[in-house]
Amino acid sequence: MKVDLYERLWMYAVVVMLAAFFTSTAVAAMRGGIHPPSHVETIDPKRVFSDPRLQPQGVSVDRDGHVHARVIGLTFAWLPATMTIPAETPVTFHVTSTDVIHGFEIVGTNGQTMVIPGYLSQLTTEFDPGEYLVACNEYCGVGHHTMASRIRVVPRAQWTAPGAASGAAVPPALATPTTPATAGGAHDGH
Ligand code: CUA
Repeated sequence: MKVDLYERLWMYAVVVMLAAFFTSTAVAAMRGGIHPPSHVETIDPKRVFSDPRLQPQGVSVDRDGHVHARVIGLTFAWLPATMTIPAETPVTFHVTSTDVIHGFEIVGTNGQTMVIPGYLSQLTTEFDPGEYLVACNEYCGVGHHTMASRIRVVPRAQWTAPGAASGAAVPPALATPTTPATAGGAHDGH
């Protein structure tokens, strides 16, 4: 088949471009650990504060020693407002919303997920020591720009696992009186 020179050059160029796009995506996914959070779990958005999967709020350690951070997004705040987690340690974030769609972004890291009412988003990542800003990156209303919290990442040796009693305070208007959660293993064991 006779293909014109310029036609052929463009065909080659397209192949090269596709290879470059695929490679850059693959490199970002592998080296940067960037990939779409694919965990799909549903939750009743009206019962977020009493759902055992979000208890205790904030940082806790499960029976296997894995660190979890449970975060609730609502217009216009992330709860808890501050968390302290250990550096160079995998931390699994469980995030949901009580109202509208928010975007959970730990600025300057690969920790990011959409937060959709009705779904419990989950991501696992680890950090270097430092102070991190958690921003909302999904426009959610007039107070969107004020929706922020902080994560302090301290060297592993300086970190102590919080006891079960240390959850973040729930705003009284939103708290639903229930029996304390028994699932989830919020204890550090000593
Ligand atoms: Cu929450 Cu923007």
